[in-house]
Amino acid sequence: MPRNQFFGFFLFSKCLTYSSKSYKNIISALSQPASPRRKPMDETTDKQRMECHVRWMIRRDMPEVLAIETESFEFPWLEEDFIRYFRQRNCIGAIAEHDNRVVGFMVYELMRKRLHVANFAVAKEFRRRGIGGQMVAKLISKLSSQRRRRIVLEVRETNLPAKDFFASLGFRVLFLLKNHFGESENAYLMQYML
Ligand SMILES: CC(C)(COP(=O)(O)OP(=O)(O)OC[C@H]1O[C@@H](n2cnc3c(N)ncnc32)[C@H](O)[C@@H]1OP(=O)(O)O)[C@@H](O)C(=O)NCCC(=O)NCCS
Repeated sequence: MPRNQFFGFFLFSKCLTYSSKSYKNIISALSQPASPRRKPMDETTDKQRMECHVRWMIRRDMPEVLAIETESFEFPWLEEDFIRYFRQRNCIGAIAEHDNRVVGFMVYELMRKRLHVANFAVAKEFRRRGIGGQMVAKLISKLSSQRRRRIVLEVRETNLPAKDFFASLGFRVLFLLKNHFGESENAYLMQYML
């Protein structure tokens, strides 16, 4: 990806951080700035379920994570985007592993009362095998009725597969965020609640 595109994306992220203050006012319970979700590319329809192990992301996972990121999104994060994210926020990276291979990853922030998913993807060749569902199950296992009871994320309005995916796992659309991604693209704010 050319550098100017990268910087454009980075500035775009900063804009989102700033503009999200408006929806902070709309629903105070969901006050954290949103991170951009990217448009997905096409995907497979393989249906055979596959078990995976979800663990923390480490540095040497990065090449495989970047490969999944690149095949999944039109405007993928670069390695420095991941690193910057992990440094600047209360942020955790996790991967789904099968046969010593990274088949999916997620990046999420620990907020005071909720988890905010900033990035989430499964390798194309392993989609529709339950990997994403197992990753979400791991996230849900981090919730507790005493503290963090919710998971929130933003899904592009045009990303119907992801919307269907999260809906199938119990997420509900709270509302539409107008022009959330710039370029006149709206996003659904989706939430899972214990
Ligand atoms: C969305 C995504 C993470 C789903 O991962 P996955 O491992 O394929 O999901 P699962 O196999 O666990 O699917 C669980 C259920 O979600 C629903 N689902 C998953 N993918 C779907 C799709 N493309 N269309 C409709 N429903 C879908 C189905 O109900 C599915 O159950 P089924 O296969 O028994 O019908 C994956 O397609 C992906 O990485 N997409 C590109 C990146 C992306 O859009 N990330 C999310 C950004 S918000």
